[in-house]
Amino acid sequence: MSADEGFGLVVVANRLPVERADTPQGWVRAPGGLVTALTTVVRRTEGAWVGWDGSIDGGSSPFTAAGMHLVPVPMSQAEVTDFYDGFANATLWPLFHDVIVKPQYHRQTWAAYRAVNERFAAQAAAVAAPGATVWVHDYQLTLVPGLLRARRPDLTIGFFNHIPFPPYEIFAQLPWGSVVIAGLLGADLLGFQRPQDASNFLRACRRSLGARTSGHGLDRVDPDGRRRRIRVRAYPIGVDAPGLEAQVRQESTSRRVAEFREQLGDRRIILGVDRLDYTKGISVRLRAMDELFAEGRLDPDDVVFVQVATPTRERVDAYREMRDAIELAVGRVNGRYATLSSAPIVYLHSTMGLPDLLALYRIADVMLVTPLRDGMNLVAKEYVACRIDDSGVLVLSRFTGAADTLTKALLVNPHDIEGVKDAIIQAVGMPLREQRARMRALRREVRIHDVQSWAEGFLADLAASPS
Ligand code: ADP
Ligand code: G6P
Repeated sequence: MSADEGFGLVVVANRLPVERADTPQGWVRAPGGLVTALTTVVRRTEGAWVGWDGSIDGGSSPFTAAGMHLVPVPMSQAEVTDFYDGFANATLWPLFHDVIVKPQYHRQTWAAYRAVNERFAAQAAAVAAPGATVWVHDYQLTLVPGLLRARRPDLTIGFFNHIPFPPYEIFAQLPWGSVVIAGLLGADLLGFQRPQDASNFLRACRRSLGARTSGHGLDRVDPDGRRRRIRVRAYPIGVDAPGLEAQVRQESTSRRVAEFREQLGDRRIILGVDRLDYTKGISVRLRAMDELFAEGRLDPDDVVFVQVATPTRERVDAYREMRDAIELAVGRVNGRYATLSSAPIVYLHSTMGLPDLLALYRIADVMLVTPLRDGMNLVAKEYVACRIDDSGVLVLSRFTGAADTLTKALLVNPHDIEGVKDAIIQAVGMPLREQRARMRALRREVRIHDVQSWAEGFLADLAASPS
């Protein structure tokens, strides 16, 4: 369907897959797992993607980038501060991640959240063809399904939450919780990462709205008197496993692997790759490595820990404070154990291009994924997908959605520092036979439940929505 007639599939997410930037193309890839996942889906379906391009007071004219039809939603400086830095990332993000840092509750940022959600709904309504499917994503846009349904009752509306949905006892802190739930219930189908998230959501519907839920959903009467069945289910997201594997097999990746090997020397390589977010447990890894060096259980001449951390949400206090703490810890460990020719920690505060990232996944003997809470964690699945010779060990926090299915990883509790240290030692010393047996099972899982099957599963269920 063309831009003039409207699009048959419209994806709505706070982030467009690209951010405006001073590069020859005029943009760079936007950070995060949502963008990674949806890029594959939108390219295949030729839908439109409605979202923010990361600029202040940018335009709203559609453009094409990276082979996708993109429809920007502009934001003012005040909205970036109150909606994005504020309600989305200083209220909902910590609230939905088990209050690892204290959520802020401010009426002003809530007002901005409502206003920006209205704008997203208006933009999506403007580009959706009659009877189209609109798929809304993530915690920044919880009010959009309801707002969109009020404007366009002809649409089929889906919502997917990429992050955890917290237990009601935590969700109940939110002063506007019942408005958020009512907004989400504008969707015909709500998807979550884990069955636990879906049941937390259904419980929040019962407790905050007094709704009666049954099976995987609930019946609801809309403000216009229409009765609808809303379905709620888990759809664990995956990665583009065949695409990643194909890229890893390219000659250019092998060349990059050889260059990295030269730079890092003949040491065992332990890898961390994350947005620099307090949910990711980066300080847990640093502490574990520090203690293992101090206790002589790891030799700083024999191993190197490479941590690549994408800058993220840098105006939010909790992120600034965490970055300072991590950089201090890296400096302390390297100060103690580095020599003139090598340091045991290589810390890169940057976003890597995909070819370099894949070469790192390929070369790393051990991948450390230790979030305190994470909806899924695609990095863990990307690492597995790239291990084409079945070697390598994944150390994975139990508090990630990925741990539900990647059960052959070394599962750890990131709050148990001794347990994390033991797992690192086990990983570094694991015999190749055991590595292969575990990795084969992990790769099978990541291949079967890839991002395409995730999207197809959700969209097929959405298409089957009773109307
Ligand atoms: P989140 O969505 O919370 O950032 P995920 O692990 O689910 O966490 O997804 C992160 C995505 O961002 C992955 O696709 C990963 O490859 C990418 N990514 C994370 N850190 C970096 C980095 N430093 N450089 C490049 N890409 C990164
Ligand atoms: C997570 C969230 C996404 C978000 C991404 C990057 O993956 O689930 O919604 O886009 O982090 O964060 P940012 O704030 O840069 O969009």
